Formats: sequence, C-alpha cells, structure tokens
Amino acid sequence: MGNKRWTASLIVLFVLFMYVLIRFAANTNNIENAVESLKTTQKAKGKTAHFILIAQELDNPYWRSIEQGAKKAAHTYNVQVEYIAPLQTSVEEQMKLFEKAIVSKVDGIVVQSLDEQMFAPIINKAVNENIPVVTIDTDSPKSERVAYVGTDNYTAGEKLGEVVAEMTGGEGEIGVMIGSETSTSQKLRFNGFLSVIQKHPQMKVVEVMSSNISQIQAVLQGESMLKKHPDMSIMVGMSALDAIGILNATTNMRRNNVQIFGFDDVEETLQAISNGHIRATIVQKPFDMGFQSIKILRQHLQGKAMKVEHFTPTEVITKNNVHLEETN
Ligand code: BGC
Repeated sequence: MGNKRWTASLIVLFVLFMYVLIRFAANTNNIENAVESLKTTQKAKGKTAHFILIAQELDNPYWRSIEQGAKKAAHTYNVQVEYIAPLQTSVEEQMKLFEKAIVSKVDGIVVQSLDEQMFAPIINKAVNENIPVVTIDTDSPKSERVAYVGTDNYTAGEKLGEVVAEMTGGEGEIGVMIGSETSTSQKLRFNGFLSVIQKHPQMKVVEVMSSNISQIQAVLQGESMLKKHPDMSIMVGMSALDAIGILNATTNMRRNNVQIFGFDDVEETLQAISNGHIRATIVQKPFDMGFQSIKILRQHLQGKAMKVEHFTPTEVITKNNVHLEETN
C-alpha cells in the first residue's frame, strides 16, 4: 500500500514537472516567434503608420477586448496595429518585445507598464528615439509617455470597497486576491479598496494573495485562503479572472456562504452574477482603452496637443443590472 502511494505521488510529480516544462518551452517559443516576426515586419502597404500594442498576456479575455478596440481604431484611421504579448504574464518578456519594437523603428508603442521601475527607463529610451509611447491599463507616471489610457485605479478600488461594504452590511472578514504584487494598477486598486474598508470597524482584510492573473492560481490561492480562515465571509478579486477562480475555490471547499466580488466583465463572471454566485463586479472599458490608445498615438503623430491622462469610466454590475449590460 505504502509503495503504491509512493508510486502514485511520483507519477503526479512527474506529470506536474512535464506540464511546467512544456508550458515553459511553449512560452519561450511564442516570445521568440513574436520577436522574430517583429524584426521583419514592415509597415503594411497603404497604411499611414505602424503601431505595436504590447499586452500583459496573449489570450486573456480582457486583453483580447483591448486588442479588438485597437484593431477597430486601426481600421477607422487606416493604420497598422500589431498585438503581441507573452503567453503568460512576464515583465521580462514584455520588455524584450518592447526592445524589439524600438529596434524595428515602429511609429508608436502602446504598452501596459506593469512595473514602473522597470518600464520607465525603456519608455524614455523609445521616446528619445522619437517613438511615442502610450501606456494602457497600468500607467508609468514618472516616464515620458505621451499619454495614459485606462481606469483611474485608486478610485475604482474605492468603488469596489463601497460596493462590498454596502452589499455585505459592512461586516465580515475579507480575503483579497490581487492579480500581481508588482503591478502599480493592482496596488492602487488595493489601496483604494482598503481606504474604504478601514472606515468600517466591523470589516477586516485578513489575507491578501496573488493569482498572477491566472485563473488556476486564483483557485489554488483561494482554497488556501479558505483553509486558513474558516470565518472568512467575503472574498474579492482585483483582476479579470480572480472572481471566477475564487468561485471555483469556494465551490470546491463547500464554502457557499462566502460573498464574492470582482473586477471586469468576462462572460463567466456575468453569468455567475446573474445566477447569484458572484455578488458584483467593477467593469472597466478595455475595448475603449484599445481604441483610444491608437487614436491618441495617431493624433500625436499629427502634432495635436493632448492631455496626458485619459481615464476610461468604470461601472458597477450586480444582479439588478447584469442583463442590461453588453460585454465589450
Ligand atoms: C487588469 C489588468 C489585468 C487583467 C488580467 C484587469 O482587471 O486591469 O491589468 O491584466 O485584469 O486578467
């Protein structure tokens, strides 16, 4: 019996190891391909400019909405937009793509500045080489970027705090899942959230964990939070896939009394709101962010003066208004 267990554990470990290895190889390959294609890409015939949009994660539904908005703008303004990103979130890989975009002498770059300390110098390098940069979703205020397009994240965090306090009666132990510990936008969101929660003496944040914007990680971290805090009655997710991950965790752990709140309007979140499993979500406007980022770059190339911060609105979606909403 003991031997069988050992063998089973070894098999599980081996499978896990192979999974990690394959993901790593696929990711490296993806980046090399993306970098390679950038080296050779020229401005397409008939287009007035060639822009690169560097996302956080290639197939994340939130980033795909940003891509759609940017592609719509590309069509509207007759420019070329290339959407590229790591397969899984990685600041280092985003930076490699950024370096290549500079080398390719593109006409403009749209980038999420996930980590200000790392991104500000490279953004400045592009700007010094006459390549304008627009930050999207996450800003780099200390850099020389032309503009930022995205949510006012501190205010959005406050909004989430207010919704949570109101819908839970201002009472309960809270577990928070943030998308990334190094992301400026996630930190702002969390601080805004905390500033509201701290005004409610019966509410307390008892745990903060990071999902690395992965739904699987959100499930695993959510489960460990639930194990650690048997009295936790509220859980909030700060990035697009966290609330769904948390919902899987509470289901797996049979903790259906936990009230869940999240960010963004990916389809499963809206579905879970309509059937009462997630209480509310703060919806951002990724499509508009993508559209505006390209519009701004184009206006900049035309020499138009513009303001620097372009905040896109957010809205609260609950069971009461979920059917009226369209995802973008
Ligand atoms: C955040 C993005 C993040 C995405 C991940 C969004 O809520 O604004 O920064 O990349 O979630 O799913």
